[in-house]
Amino acid sequence: MDEQSKPSPQAAQAKARIEAVKRGFEQRRNINQKLENIGYKIGVYSGKGGVGKTSVAVNLACYLAKQGHSVGILDVDIDCPNVTKAMGMTERATIEDGTVTPGEQYGVKVVSMSYFQKSEDEAIIWRGPMIHNAINQFLQMTEWGQLDYLIVDLPPGTSDGPLTVMQTITLDGFVVVTTPHFLSALDAKRSINMIRKLNVNVLGIVENFVGDIFGKGAGETLAKELQLSFLGGIELRSEYRMVDIPPVLRVDEIEKEYEAIVAAINTVIASKN
Ligand SMILES: Nc1ncnc2c1ncn2[C@@H]1O[C@H](COP(=O)(O)OP(=O)(O)O)[C@@H](O)[C@H]1O
Ligand SMILES: [Mg+2]
Repeated sequence: MDEQSKPSPQAAQAKARIEAVKRGFEQRRNINQKLENIGYKIGVYSGKGGVGKTSVAVNLACYLAKQGHSVGILDVDIDCPNVTKAMGMTERATIEDGTVTPGEQYGVKVVSMSYFQKSEDEAIIWRGPMIHNAINQFLQMTEWGQLDYLIVDLPPGTSDGPLTVMQTITLDGFVVVTTPHFLSALDAKRSINMIRKLNVNVLGIVENFVGDIFGKGAGETLAKELQLSFLGGIELRSEYRMVDIPPVLRVDEIEKEYEAIVAAINTVIASKN
């Protein structure tokens, strides 16, 4: 090629940018096609780790499945993908011929980023573009089938991890988890502000670890302050020590807590439609 017919660096850059935008559109279209048979996509999120996100995601999903709904969980907590453990699962999602088939436990379909770990105590260091690519790939390849609800367990915080997840998957609403402590509520407030910046619905706040030890009330106070629904409290209980069977499936009081939370979520969803 002579110098004359070579594209200028600016033209080459512009072309590369257009190609990248095109690829992005295609990916989004593919993902939306894969998720189009899902009724409602709910993210479970908090500013802090250890407040009970995974526990809420798992128990919520199992409760909904027990009520006869078709339910999936997508575990995209990249650093601590604990859903399969919390569900007592040994089998993982399988990948064959470019299709991810979710594992299944207690009637809930499960896809987890733990798929990428060689062993459960391995730490994978993810950077923004890798998170984006991994989640994108999984979303494009997973056959969920028809689902009434997809529950998404997000990474905590307000930095790269959760932000990338929120930008990659279009969720219909978030359940934000806090503990009864005001510091946890402060973190929850930051996470809610982040969600709102991305124009996604916050369905409301759940307060976990309620009881004599940590007290009660920060979640409800925060909900009032931010004009959000308080979806319900969950007591601190020793029954959570056993992990193989989610406690909502074996403890009546916990089932009642989730019954109230689901009723509150449905009221919020109905009021937004
Ligand atoms: N209401 C509760 N009572 C007692 N233990 C709980 C309760 N909720 C969660 N846990 C336990 O607290 C720990 C942290 O919860 P987890 O759901 O993993 O938090 P996160 O996903 O926010 O990091 C887990 O060991 C879990 O079993
Ligand atoms: Mg977790």
